[in-house]
Amino acid sequence: MIGRASILTYGCQMNEADTTDIGQALKRAGYELTRSWDQSDLVVLNTCAIREKAEDRIRGTLGHLKSLRARRPWLVVGVMGCMAAQSADYLSHEADFVIPPMEAGQLSEVLAGLPPPPGLGEEEGDLPPLEMNQETPFKRFLPIIRGCNHRCTFCVVPNTRGPEYYEPPEELFQKVGEMRDRGVLEVTLLGQTVNAYVHGGWTFATLLQEMAHRFPAVGFRFITSHPRQFSDEIIEVMATRPNVMPYLHLPLQAGSDRVLRRMKRLYTFAEYEALVGRVRSAVPDLALSTDIICGFPGETEEDFDRTLEAMKRIRFESAFMFYYSERPGTAAVNLDGKLPIPARKERLARLIRLQKDIQMEVNQSEVGRRRRCLVERTSKKDPAVMLARTPSNKGVLVPGPESLIGSYLELEIQRADSFILFASQRA
Ligand code: SAH
Ligand code: F3S
Repeated sequence: MIGRASILTYGCQMNEADTTDIGQALKRAGYELTRSWDQSDLVVLNTCAIREKAEDRIRGTLGHLKSLRARRPWLVVGVMGCMAAQSADYLSHEADFVIPPMEAGQLSEVLAGLPPPPGLGEEEGDLPPLEMNQETPFKRFLPIIRGCNHRCTFCVVPNTRGPEYYEPPEELFQKVGEMRDRGVLEVTLLGQTVNAYVHGGWTFATLLQEMAHRFPAVGFRFITSHPRQFSDEIIEVMATRPNVMPYLHLPLQAGSDRVLRRMKRLYTFAEYEALVGRVRSAVPDLALSTDIICGFPGETEEDFDRTLEAMKRIRFESAFMFYYSERPGTAAVNLDGKLPIPARKERLARLIRLQKDIQMEVNQSEVGRRRRCLVERTSKKDPAVMLARTPSNKGVLVPGPESLIGSYLELEIQRADSFILFASQRA
């Protein structure tokens, strides 16, 4: 071991998947991984640039690390992830190395060029080493596409992660085979627009179908889908393969066609609603989740009402809601009609209130149902209570011993609120 390293991960699941790769590169370079970043010789920040808030948090952490240097002058700080592409100039003053997502493969070379840290202090000898993903060793993310070919006008991802690159199917099958052999029970296929997958004669539908067929004991999910490219073949695979889980993350972003056009989302609300109708009728018990942005430049009160109306009509099982954040280098920066931040926040509060009520009703309809749930971990509040997930990815709290973690249970839902279900175990 040449030193201790920790990785701080921000942002999306793609970053979580990348953190696994970064961890492996660090181990190969001779580092031991630890969660205690204040006792590390090397800290890698795997960053996010999607909204200003994410960048602010990371700037704060970089400030913290600077003050840590007073005690550990040999500390090396590296920045990876989307902020490394979006704010490279600023970071070059704050970090020892900056590697943007499209050059992530260079990490090993960079590590090899670092000066070795001084010998370990006695007092640090007994820190527990960290296995990556130790909390849920039976769930894994698998990136199948890198980058994004869309040009949504609010989004930095095409700038930070570049155009789409598709991982070869045979490599993907091999990786899932290895995961299964190590006891992984659920695999989530990842891509910014996961359903855009193409490789040779393969499409996303045929890839998903073949995955489900080759690995019948593994449950498959996939995120994120773009409504424009969601084919009937994908719906067919979801409907006919029992190990493709009934969960779909399908960002709507806005209910007004005028706003959708200005966002370059390439669909109308009517098209989106028709698609949801097709998926829901083919896949019973589907849970549909979405992303919504409010306060986009030029969004009138009437446009915003359309978003509220859309949410009432579709009744999403869950929603990630954001107010618009201006990102340097994106097309929306040049649009007129910017709203003051307090006005954006006020709309966001209304969205959240509405969705909370919808989720309460939607979750109530789960009461009395029986669901086959995977037990993930102990609940944060009570070690005698476990957190499990329904096939549609809803959280369920159930009393029980820790030994249940990693097993499937038939649970009867007894109670529900807006954010979680409560169950008892069936004898
Ligand atoms: N296709 C991607 C989208 C990534 S960003 C995926 O894999 O999920 C996730 C969500 O963040 C987007 O769907 C959008 O709702 C939100 N978002 C992106 N850029 C934003 C911005 N500038 N301001 C506010 N929200 C934004
Ligand atoms: Fe961003 Fe739109 Fe791609 S939200 S990641 S540009 S599909």
